[in-house]
Amino acid sequence: MKFTQSAVLAFAATAVAAPSATTKDEPRQAASGCSSAVTLDPSSNPFKKYTLHPNKFYRDEVTAAVAQLSDSSLAAAAAKVADVGSFLWIDTIANIAKIEPALADVPCTNILGLVIYDLPGRDCAAKASNGELKVGEISRYKSEYIDPIVTLLKAHPNTAFALVIEPDSLPNLVTNSDKDTCKNSAAGYRDGVAYAIKNLNLPNVIMYLDAGHGGWLGWDANLKPGAQELAKAFKAGGSPKQLRGIATNTAGWNAWDLSPGEFSTASDAKYNKCQNEKIYVDTFAPELKSAGMPNHAIVDTGRNAKTGLRAEWGDWCNVNGAGFGVRPTSSTGDELADAFVWIKPGGESDGTSDSSATRYDSFCGKDDAFKPAPEAGTWNQAYFEMLLQNAVPSF
Ligand code: BGC
Repeated sequence: MKFTQSAVLAFAATAVAAPSATTKDEPRQAASGCSSAVTLDPSSNPFKKYTLHPNKFYRDEVTAAVAQLSDSSLAAAAAKVADVGSFLWIDTIANIAKIEPALADVPCTNILGLVIYDLPGRDCAAKASNGELKVGEISRYKSEYIDPIVTLLKAHPNTAFALVIEPDSLPNLVTNSDKDTCKNSAAGYRDGVAYAIKNLNLPNVIMYLDAGHGGWLGWDANLKPGAQELAKAFKAGGSPKQLRGIATNTAGWNAWDLSPGEFSTASDAKYNKCQNEKIYVDTFAPELKSAGMPNHAIVDTGRNAKTGLRAEWGDWCNVNGAGFGVRPTSSTGDELADAFVWIKPGGESDGTSDSSATRYDSFCGKDDAFKPAPEAGTWNQAYFEMLLQNAVPSF
């Protein structure tokens, strides 16, 4: 995962069931899921009916982290993090195997969040999250990654799923098309995203396409091209009706409604109206609409409690001093924002700080990045403890 130096690019450019039988009132089933098929109504907010599920994998990571804490009050606070709903990242073909076990304890009141994240040539503008599939391996992406996930989701019609589709991919095509790696990945990203949303368009699934964040597609010069890029993928995927809008701030650090925004005194601030995520969601929505795409949003608040930590808006790797943010909720105070959710599992690294590693990205060595940090996706106990200590609200 990474976020780009969009400011620079912006300069360059100017000078990125409901109607189902399953509601919160229904009794929890002994087995997983509901007693009948779930039908999510894409015209209403699924998070009003379903709670984001605290999945077993994050719960296990947190439980292991708690066991390492000798301070009993910190341990008690840490234990509460296990109950927070968060998304489970299916970041490799092998990790598709996590879906079945994650389904074992999902009550009918909950929705299981999954991140679809395995495009060929992944993370084209950075190195930290380069994936297993190489540019050109689009048929493997379809047949070995998306198809088996579709089969699994179809096999569990009584469970509700929320999907975040391919973080960073389309935003990178908007702002980083000058990079050879992104140029090479572009065709596979567009084809792959369209294929994913077309085939994952199931009644028990609601989808959100990743749209970066306010400091990325929120630049004046990026809003329209961003909306068009996303809408193009939506249409190429057959305008799937279960796609409800966008996911923003995935693994990001932006505050929801801090005003004035964190970077509003920066010299380039005049080129970006979207100085917080709320403004971004509200400003991008009409652009999406006119480009022909649904425009509701979910916003990652997993690690955005503290601001003033990043030297530059585009700094994305293991930001030092960060804290857990608002817990998942559908009370956002904004009609367009379906929910605050935890997409990035707080405690999992954004990228290694080992400069000799193949996937070392210089952003993970910056002064504002926490060190040492392990490979992307792996647990960083010290970072988890920092997030906990800096949490707002506290645990
Ligand atoms: C990593 C993935 C990981 C995800 C969630 C990404 O940056 O590349 O491997 O699953 O973060 O931690």
